[in-house]
Amino acid sequence: MSKINKCHNIDDFRKLAKKSIPSPIFHYIDGAADDEVTYRRNTKAFDECYLVPKVLRSVETVNLETKVLGKKISLPFFLSPTALQRLFHHTGELAVAKSAEKFNTFFGISSLSTIPIEDIINIKAPKIFQLYFHKDRGLTNSMIDKCKAAKLDALALTVDTITGGNRERDLKTGFTSPPKLTLKSLLSFIQNPKWTLNFLFRKKFDLPFLSDFIKEGTDIKISVSDYFTNMLDQNLNWKDAENIKKRWNGIFCLKGIMSREDALKAVDIGADAIMISNHGGRQLDGSRSPFDQLDEIVEAVGGKIDIICDGGIRRGTHILKSLSKGATACSGGRLYLYALASGGEKGVTKSISNLKEEVIRDMKLMGVTKISELNKNNIRY
Ligand code: LAC
Repeated sequence: MSKINKCHNIDDFRKLAKKSIPSPIFHYIDGAADDEVTYRRNTKAFDECYLVPKVLRSVETVNLETKVLGKKISLPFFLSPTALQRLFHHTGELAVAKSAEKFNTFFGISSLSTIPIEDIINIKAPKIFQLYFHKDRGLTNSMIDKCKAAKLDALALTVDTITGGNRERDLKTGFTSPPKLTLKSLLSFIQNPKWTLNFLFRKKFDLPFLSDFIKEGTDIKISVSDYFTNMLDQNLNWKDAENIKKRWNGIFCLKGIMSREDALKAVDIGADAIMISNHGGRQLDGSRSPFDQLDEIVEAVGGKIDIICDGGIRRGTHILKSLSKGATACSGGRLYLYALASGGEKGVTKSISNLKEEVIRDMKLMGVTKISELNKNNIRY
């Protein structure tokens, strides 16, 4: 059995990823802010609530179809936009896109994508672009216009990166993008010759959404935290969000909403969706988990806007618990990134397949055959 086939869950892929790529890059994926309390809580929160199954309900055929962000997808979860995928595996975003296509679910394209939009245009899975609001308005607008021209399905404005999170693992390893060659990092490159050869001799690392505009972040090796702090506009506000929505003129999502108040404001400006997210615990440590915040947000805006629970998902039951509480769908980054680092498209496909099989099995065990049958009555604390 190949190493990939031996990965039965996301944690197995995490362990394999750790062995497959240089440690500064692994810790960039795996790490979070400060003491990583929020990062741990994002997954732990699911353990405080339990499912109540029903039986004798003929569950042989289960339908996972879900409508989110204006599209019907075949899974109740999707692949959140994440940055710099070429660093994790030389096939990067394209591998993730092809996997999403196999399962007919959304995949994200980051402002920090390492491939140009043209490369994924023909992929038949729905696509959501993740937008950072740069100080350079020309750059921000060029991203929106490219997405419009490429007819992407949705645009998500990230609202929780107003300044760089304190990612101490990155400080310790000296992680930058692209990776810097130091005495310390050299050792980890030597230990991972396959990754290093692929990185050095395949297509040159690039950030095509940025490279027309700026050298910083493409040629100059900077940390992600410095990118947020130096290049994003800290005066981003609700008026800007409205203007972006207008310019984009399509399905619009705010990624990084955590409070009830902001969820209500998102409805006010006419957003179609919110992603309840704390950026995988990578920004404000001590922030509550998306799953913990679901109740009050669903109570405030449920039925008025799509509510996506993004963060901490490692198991099919985590998805069922979120949907039971009223999330429209779930999403996650690390749930496919460890797999990408472990084995490109094959890895991502296996990881999504594992999670899909879990959801199917868990739905049968819960006595439900459709996502719409899940509700608050299924869970207790
Ligand atoms: C991060 C950004 C780039 O969390 O999404 O590293």
